[in-house]
Amino acid sequence: MTLEQTLDDGERLAQLDGEQLRQLVGLVEYGASGDPFPVSGWDSLVWVVGNAVQTAHFFQSAFGMELVVYSGPETGNRDHHGFVLRSGAARFVITGAHDPGSPLADHHRAHGDGIVDIALSVPDVDRCIAHAAASGATVLEPPHDLTDQHGTVRVAALAVHGDTRHTLVDRSRYTGPYLPGYVARTSSHVKRAGAPERLFHAVDHVVGNVELGAMDRWVEFYNRVMGFTNMAEFVGADIATDYSALMSTVVANGNHRVTFPLNEPALGKKKSQIDEYLEFYRGPGAQHVALATDDILTTVDALRAEGIEFLGTPDSYYEDPALRARIGDVRVPIEELRTRGILVDRDEDGYLLQIFTKPIGDRPTVFFELIERHGSLGFGIGNFQALFEAIEREQDERGTF
Ligand SMILES: [Fe+2]
Repeated sequence: MTLEQTLDDGERLAQLDGEQLRQLVGLVEYGASGDPFPVSGWDSLVWVVGNAVQTAHFFQSAFGMELVVYSGPETGNRDHHGFVLRSGAARFVITGAHDPGSPLADHHRAHGDGIVDIALSVPDVDRCIAHAAASGATVLEPPHDLTDQHGTVRVAALAVHGDTRHTLVDRSRYTGPYLPGYVARTSSHVKRAGAPERLFHAVDHVVGNVELGAMDRWVEFYNRVMGFTNMAEFVGADIATDYSALMSTVVANGNHRVTFPLNEPALGKKKSQIDEYLEFYRGPGAQHVALATDDILTTVDALRAEGIEFLGTPDSYYEDPALRARIGDVRVPIEELRTRGILVDRDEDGYLLQIFTKPIGDRPTVFFELIERHGSLGFGIGNFQALFEAIEREQDERGTF
């Protein structure tokens, strides 16, 4: 099967081709027939927030996303609002309770704004769930059909770390805009004159933070239950400052569209950023979402113009001769990166440019990464030291370090 044949509807709609996705997110060809749990790609990231109306506005006005689908009291939903937003192949679903008895209200009370469901597109929901159940996974929802006049969506859900889940979705027999119960909807929001058509094209990776000692168990879960393979392994000493540390392992599905770095805190002299997340999120969950762009300079400038704040990078990062020697030539002058605080990393396959926002909610939990890949399939390990030091300065200001 060629890369072109593996494109999903969202990617075709966004006019992305296989070569672009190979460059953007590291998509590779693979044979699904021997995979016990074939995953095609991301379906959507489902957020629970305290105010879905305003968060949906934020993702449109600041992140340039487009409202496409809606559910709420006007459509018969007495429990919550749901706004479906797109940017290229990426789909976010923003939900917020308007009934105080909604389970979403309980979720928000416990966790604050965050991602409850990393929904994945699979060609055969029943086959995946049969394998997962036989492997001892917790099935939250057995396979079932959701049907309306547009056809049928087959779904099921698996529990993963904390209160996070993977809903498995097969839309092959459905032509509606999202799911039964949702209706197509556009917004009156108008992009600023000269704004890029979109600021990011796809989700690159979603990081999970788990408790001390739990990382290997979750890596093993993704290997055994979902057939993911390990992409890279970091050890605590590699990503540690004198004061805080983490361990991270990256798992990926067969075609590498879906990658999950899994972090656990490592012991340090002070509180690790992972500990801070676990404390404020009240347990494990999704820490950051990396958004793939092919023009990180324009994306960062546009986000900053809308008031999005990024972690600062010390000037010393750009002046370090060892870094300059290591990264070699990149497509833009270092000065352009320095003025924006964009980080560079290089490995044997190429390089990447990346930058991290500050947490986007009230709690110091979930945040975004922007990533522009040029061959590198890594996650910026060479930048972890600089990044950690920047995060620690922020923690220090919050008094949680
Ligand atoms: Fe990342």
